[in-house]
Amino acid sequence: MNSHPLPTFRVERDALPALLKAMPKAELHMHIEGSLEPELIFALAQRNGVQLSYPSVEALRAAYAFTDLQSFLDIYYAGASVLLKEADFFDMAWAYLLKAKEDGIVHTELFFDPQTHTERGVPFEVVIKGLTRACEQARTELGVSASLIMCFLRHLSEEDALKTLEEALPYRDLFIGVGLDSSERGHPPEKFARVFARCRELGLHLVAHAGEEGPAQYIINALDILHVERIDHGVRCVEDPALVKRLAEHGTALTVCPLSNIKLCVFDKMEQHNLKTLLDQGLKVTINSDDPAYFGGYLHANFLATFEGLDLDAGHAYTLARNSLEASFVSDEVKAGWIRQLDETFARFAA
Ligand code: ADE
Ligand code: ZN
Repeated sequence: MNSHPLPTFRVERDALPALLKAMPKAELHMHIEGSLEPELIFALAQRNGVQLSYPSVEALRAAYAFTDLQSFLDIYYAGASVLLKEADFFDMAWAYLLKAKEDGIVHTELFFDPQTHTERGVPFEVVIKGLTRACEQARTELGVSASLIMCFLRHLSEEDALKTLEEALPYRDLFIGVGLDSSERGHPPEKFARVFARCRELGLHLVAHAGEEGPAQYIINALDILHVERIDHGVRCVEDPALVKRLAEHGTALTVCPLSNIKLCVFDKMEQHNLKTLLDQGLKVTINSDDPAYFGGYLHANFLATFEGLDLDAGHAYTLARNSLEASFVSDEVKAGWIRQLDETFARFAA
């Protein structure tokens, strides 16, 4: 079970937004290509001589009205087409890391989609070097810890994923794990059993998107067949009470993305989101921004919208921040240091 059932804290309601920002936390589910703001898309398009099919920043932003995951992915992949050079990947990641600092994130594990770039002829090396340079600079200049998780696109074949893994191996030390993203329905986890088995042998951390639009069975298969350590999204687990019990007993983290779920119509409105129910059932829930440039906000905006929509309090805030630190892929020693800082922050606000 979750080792820390919802605590209570006496914090003034007015102080909650400041506490949500100040509390040290980790972001564990953010696609770096999903942090490309329309302004940066246009700037990079101009820098690289790429023709966009939207006449202006405003027209592009106006197209961000999604009906489901696929309607978003079509625009998301089009946006990523402006990324060609190492400096483009650096600029994109650096812009996100500055926001992360502002939102009180002490550690972030960034997803990147190499296939989105290599299939356009951008070498893997260009992608990973640009992202790595931004992560290193975040550590030295911002005091923000940042690691990379390479995602396989599930709408492509497992052969393509295996080929991508081969291309990535010379840079094995530059990423900590692998994930599985893109169109979920019709592309179950078991499609990637062999590539995940290989990654497991290599000692990589394993995560996968499951139960965002796909059924609870995809979560079970991600756990049993891919052996993932965290489930990205996972909100459809509630359709299987035995699965909910299993997730709670094992303390398996769910990296939930509230604003994303509303924008992609997984829930109609925030008041209907099941995040509070999941917490009440003892699940190790975390809050994340997924694709912040497309879904209306970065991590703090996700916290604010969720706390308002579901009437959450300081006890929930503590649990969510602590879950994010505990579920991160850093050493126990580093986690303990951040949890001490978290406790100090709450003590300050409760005073
Ligand atoms: N790629 C970027 N965002 C995604 C999401 N929410 N689900 C699946 N794949 C994604
Ligand atoms: Zn995602």
